[in-house]
Amino acid sequence: MATNNFLFITNFKTYTEASGVNAEALLKIHDEVAGEFPHVNVTCAVQALDFGAVSDFPNVKKLAQHVDPACAGSYTGKIVPERVKNMGGWGTILNHSENRLEREVLKESITSAKRSGLVTIVCCETAEEGWSFLEFEPDYLAVEPPELIGGDISISKSQADVIKKALKLIGGDKLLVGAGVRDFDDVRIAVEYGARGVLVASGVCKAADPAAALRDLLSGYPVV
Ligand code: G3P
Repeated sequence: MATNNFLFITNFKTYTEASGVNAEALLKIHDEVAGEFPHVNVTCAVQALDFGAVSDFPNVKKLAQHVDPACAGSYTGKIVPERVKNMGGWGTILNHSENRLEREVLKESITSAKRSGLVTIVCCETAEEGWSFLEFEPDYLAVEPPELIGGDISISKSQADVIKKALKLIGGDKLLVGAGVRDFDDVRIAVEYGARGVLVASGVCKAADPAAALRDLLSGYPVV
Protein backbone atom coordinates (compact mmCIF):
# COMPACT_ATOMS: atom_id res chain seq x y z
CA MET A 1 0.00 0.00 0.00
CA ALA A 2 1.38 3.38 -0.96
CA THR A 3 1.90 5.73 1.97
CA ASN A 4 2.95 9.11 0.73
CA ASN A 5 1.98 12.72 0.49
CA PHE A 6 0.31 12.91 -2.91
CA LEU A 7 -3.31 11.91 -3.26
CA PHE A 8 -5.20 10.91 -6.41
CA ILE A 9 -8.94 10.26 -6.38
CA THR A 10 -10.99 8.74 -9.16
CA ASN A 11 -14.65 9.37 -8.42
CA PHE A 12 -16.64 6.55 -10.04
CA LYS A 13 -19.86 8.60 -9.62
CA THR A 14 -22.76 6.58 -11.08
CA TYR A 15 -21.13 6.12 -14.46
CA THR A 16 -22.17 2.85 -16.11
CA GLU A 17 -18.53 2.36 -17.02
CA ALA A 18 -17.74 2.36 -13.27
CA SER A 19 -20.74 0.45 -11.89
CA GLY A 20 -21.25 -3.21 -10.98
CA VAL A 21 -18.83 -5.54 -12.77
CA ASN A 22 -17.30 -2.48 -14.42
CA ALA A 23 -16.45 -1.08 -10.97
CA GLU A 24 -14.48 -4.24 -10.20
CA ALA A 25 -12.68 -4.06 -13.55
CA LEU A 26 -11.86 -0.36 -13.10
CA LEU A 27 -10.50 -0.97 -9.60
CA LYS A 28 -8.29 -3.72 -11.00
CA ILE A 29 -6.95 -1.31 -13.61
CA HIS A 30 -6.24 1.23 -10.86
CA ASP A 31 -4.44 -1.43 -8.85
CA GLU A 32 -2.19 -2.41 -11.76
CA VAL A 33 -1.34 1.16 -12.77
CA ALA A 34 -0.96 2.40 -9.16
CA GLY A 35 1.77 -0.21 -8.68
CA GLU A 36 3.89 1.81 -11.13
CA PHE A 37 3.43 5.00 -9.06
CA PRO A 38 4.24 4.11 -5.45
CA HIS A 39 4.79 7.81 -4.63
CA VAL A 40 1.07 8.51 -5.18
CA ASN A 41 -1.74 7.44 -2.87
CA VAL A 42 -4.29 6.17 -5.40
CA THR A 43 -7.91 6.02 -4.24
CA CYS A 44 -11.27 5.25 -5.86
CA ALA A 45 -14.65 6.55 -4.71
CA VAL A 46 -16.99 3.64 -5.41
CA GLN A 47 -20.78 4.06 -5.38
CA ALA A 48 -22.59 2.75 -2.32
CA LEU A 49 -24.31 -0.26 -3.91
CA ASP A 50 -20.98 -1.57 -5.24
CA PHE A 51 -18.93 -0.83 -2.14
CA GLY A 52 -19.31 -4.20 -0.43
CA ALA A 53 -19.30 -6.20 -3.64
CA VAL A 54 -15.94 -5.14 -5.07
CA SER A 55 -12.66 -6.76 -4.08
CA ASP A 56 -9.94 -5.15 -2.01
CA PHE A 57 -6.84 -4.41 -4.04
CA PRO A 58 -3.43 -3.83 -2.45
CA ASN A 59 -2.50 -0.65 -4.34
CA VAL A 60 -5.83 1.14 -4.18
CA LYS A 61 -7.75 2.58 -1.26
CA LYS A 62 -11.53 2.59 -1.37
CA LEU A 63 -13.57 5.69 -0.62
CA ALA A 64 -17.29 6.09 -0.14
CA GLN A 65 -18.84 8.83 -2.28
CA HIS A 66 -20.90 9.95 0.73
CA VAL A 67 -21.76 8.87 4.26
CA ASP A 68 -24.49 9.96 6.65
CA PRO A 69 -24.08 10.95 10.29
CA ALA A 70 -25.65 7.66 11.33
CA CYS A 71 -24.59 4.66 13.39
CA ALA A 72 -25.85 1.12 13.95
CA GLY A 73 -29.44 1.26 15.15
CA SER A 74 -32.70 2.89 14.24
CA TYR A 75 -31.82 4.47 10.90
CA THR A 76 -33.30 3.62 7.51
CA GLY A 77 -31.64 4.12 4.18
CA LYS A 78 -28.48 5.67 5.59
CA ILE A 79 -24.85 5.02 4.72
CA VAL A 80 -23.20 4.28 8.04
CA PRO A 81 -19.54 5.35 8.35
CA GLU A 82 -18.70 2.47 10.67
CA ARG A 83 -19.90 -0.03 8.05
CA VAL A 84 -17.82 1.68 5.37
CA LYS A 85 -14.79 1.36 7.64
CA ASN A 86 -15.54 -2.29 8.42
CA MET A 87 -15.91 -3.02 4.71
CA GLY A 88 -12.37 -1.85 4.04
CA GLY A 89 -13.06 1.81 3.36
CA TRP A 90 -10.19 4.26 3.83
CA GLY A 91 -12.26 7.40 3.69
CA THR A 92 -15.20 9.25 2.29
CA ILE A 93 -16.05 12.18 0.08
CA LEU A 94 -18.57 14.58 1.62
CA ASN A 95 -20.52 17.52 0.20
CA HIS A 96 -19.69 16.87 -3.44
CA SER A 97 -21.40 19.53 -5.55
CA GLU A 98 -23.65 16.77 -6.90
CA ASN A 99 -24.64 15.89 -3.31
CA ARG A 100 -24.50 19.08 -1.25
CA LEU A 101 -25.16 19.05 2.49
CA GLU A 102 -26.55 21.64 4.87
CA ARG A 103 -23.73 23.14 6.90
CA GLU A 104 -24.85 21.54 10.19
CA VAL A 105 -25.29 18.15 8.52
CA LEU A 106 -21.83 18.46 7.00
CA LYS A 107 -20.37 19.21 10.41
CA GLU A 108 -22.06 16.15 11.94
CA SER A 109 -21.05 13.99 8.97
CA ILE A 110 -17.38 14.93 9.31
CA THR A 111 -17.45 14.22 13.05
CA SER A 112 -19.22 10.92 12.54
CA ALA A 113 -16.91 9.77 9.72
CA LYS A 114 -13.78 10.71 11.68
CA ARG A 115 -15.07 8.92 14.78
CA SER A 116 -15.32 5.77 12.65
CA GLY A 117 -11.74 6.18 11.49
CA LEU A 118 -12.50 7.39 7.97
CA VAL A 119 -10.42 10.05 6.22
CA THR A 120 -12.71 12.93 5.26
CA ILE A 121 -12.45 14.61 1.86
CA VAL A 122 -14.82 17.56 1.89
CA CYS A 123 -15.71 19.25 -1.38
CA CYS A 124 -16.24 22.96 -1.72
CA GLU A 125 -17.17 25.12 -4.69
CA THR A 126 -14.85 28.04 -3.88
CA ALA A 127 -11.69 28.69 -1.90
CA GLU A 128 -13.67 30.85 0.53
CA GLU A 129 -16.21 28.12 1.16
CA GLY A 130 -13.35 25.67 1.81
CA TRP A 131 -11.87 28.10 4.29
CA SER A 132 -15.22 28.30 6.09
CA PHE A 133 -15.19 24.48 6.53
CA LEU A 134 -11.77 24.45 8.23
CA GLU A 135 -13.44 24.80 11.62
CA PHE A 136 -14.94 21.31 11.12
CA GLU A 137 -11.41 19.88 10.82
CA PRO A 138 -11.75 17.76 7.68
CA ASP A 139 -8.64 15.90 6.54
CA TYR A 140 -8.78 17.31 3.01
CA LEU A 141 -10.67 20.10 1.26
CA ALA A 142 -11.29 19.60 -2.43
CA VAL A 143 -12.02 22.75 -4.42
CA GLU A 144 -14.11 22.02 -7.52
CA PRO A 145 -15.70 24.88 -9.50
CA PRO A 146 -19.06 23.27 -10.42
CA GLU A 147 -19.22 24.82 -13.88
CA LEU A 148 -16.05 22.91 -14.91
CA ILE A 149 -17.15 19.47 -13.68
CA GLY A 150 -17.48 16.96 -16.49
CA GLY A 151 -16.03 19.35 -19.06
CA ASP A 152 -12.78 19.58 -20.98
CA ILE A 153 -11.42 22.74 -19.37
CA SER A 154 -9.52 22.06 -16.17
CA ILE A 155 -9.34 24.15 -13.01
CA SER A 156 -5.53 23.95 -13.40
CA LYS A 157 -5.46 25.63 -16.80
CA SER A 158 -8.38 28.02 -16.41
CA GLN A 159 -8.59 29.00 -12.74
CA ALA A 160 -5.06 29.33 -11.42
CA ASP A 161 -6.26 32.26 -9.30
CA VAL A 162 -8.69 29.94 -7.47
CA ILE A 163 -5.94 27.43 -6.67
CA LYS A 164 -3.62 30.18 -5.47
CA LYS A 165 -6.32 31.68 -3.27
CA ALA A 166 -7.18 28.23 -1.91
CA LEU A 167 -3.53 27.63 -1.08
CA LYS A 168 -3.47 30.86 0.92
CA LEU A 169 -6.77 30.26 2.71
CA ILE A 170 -6.64 26.48 3.21
CA GLY A 171 -2.94 25.63 3.11
CA GLY A 172 -1.18 23.03 0.99
CA ASP A 173 -1.48 20.15 3.47
CA LYS A 174 -5.23 19.77 3.02
CA LEU A 175 -5.70 21.11 -0.48
CA LEU A 176 -7.05 19.03 -3.37
CA VAL A 177 -8.48 20.39 -6.60
CA GLY A 178 -10.70 18.95 -9.28
CA ALA A 179 -13.04 19.57 -12.24
CA GLY A 180 -12.10 19.07 -15.85
CA VAL A 181 -8.79 17.40 -14.96
CA ARG A 182 -7.86 15.40 -18.04
CA ASP A 183 -4.15 14.88 -18.38
CA PHE A 184 -0.62 14.93 -17.08
CA ASP A 185 -0.34 18.70 -17.40
CA ASP A 186 -3.49 19.39 -15.37
CA VAL A 187 -2.06 17.35 -12.50
CA ARG A 188 1.44 18.82 -12.81
CA ILE A 189 0.12 22.40 -12.71
CA ALA A 190 -2.14 21.73 -9.71
CA VAL A 191 0.72 20.17 -7.74
CA GLU A 192 3.13 22.93 -8.77
CA TYR A 193 0.68 25.49 -7.37
CA GLY A 194 0.82 23.58 -4.08
CA ALA A 195 -2.12 21.14 -4.11
CA ARG A 196 -1.68 17.71 -2.50
CA GLY A 197 -3.57 16.09 -5.31
CA VAL A 198 -6.53 15.98 -7.67
CA LEU A 199 -9.98 14.48 -8.08
CA VAL A 200 -10.90 13.09 -11.48
CA ALA A 201 -14.08 11.42 -12.72
CA SER A 202 -14.91 11.52 -16.43
CA GLY A 203 -11.24 11.73 -17.47
CA VAL A 204 -10.77 8.14 -16.26
CA CYS A 205 -14.25 6.59 -16.10
CA LYS A 206 -15.26 7.71 -19.60
CA ALA A 207 -11.84 7.28 -21.23
CA ALA A 208 -11.56 4.94 -24.21
CA ASP A 209 -8.51 3.45 -22.50
CA PRO A 210 -8.78 4.06 -18.72
CA ALA A 211 -5.38 2.48 -17.99
CA ALA A 212 -3.65 4.82 -20.43
CA ALA A 213 -5.58 7.83 -19.10
CA LEU A 214 -4.67 6.93 -15.54
CA ARG A 215 -1.00 6.36 -16.39
CA ASP A 216 -0.88 9.76 -18.08
CA LEU A 217 -2.54 11.52 -15.12
CA LEU A 218 -0.32 9.85 -12.52
CA SER A 219 2.77 10.87 -14.49
CA GLY A 220 1.94 14.46 -13.56
CA TYR A 221 3.03 13.94 -9.94
CA PRO A 222 6.69 14.56 -9.18
CA VAL A 223 8.64 11.49 -8.13
CA VAL A 224 9.82 12.00 -4.56
O1 G3P B 1 -15.31 14.39 -7.98
C1 G3P B 1 -14.59 14.76 -9.11
C2 G3P B 1 -15.46 15.33 -10.14
O2 G3P B 1 -16.50 16.13 -9.70
C3 G3P B 1 -14.73 15.94 -11.28
O3 G3P B 1 -15.38 15.48 -12.40
O4 G3P B 1 -15.53 14.69 -14.68
O5 G3P B 1 -14.68 16.97 -14.20
O6 G3P B 1 -13.27 15.01 -13.63
P1 G3P B 1 -14.68 15.54 -13.82
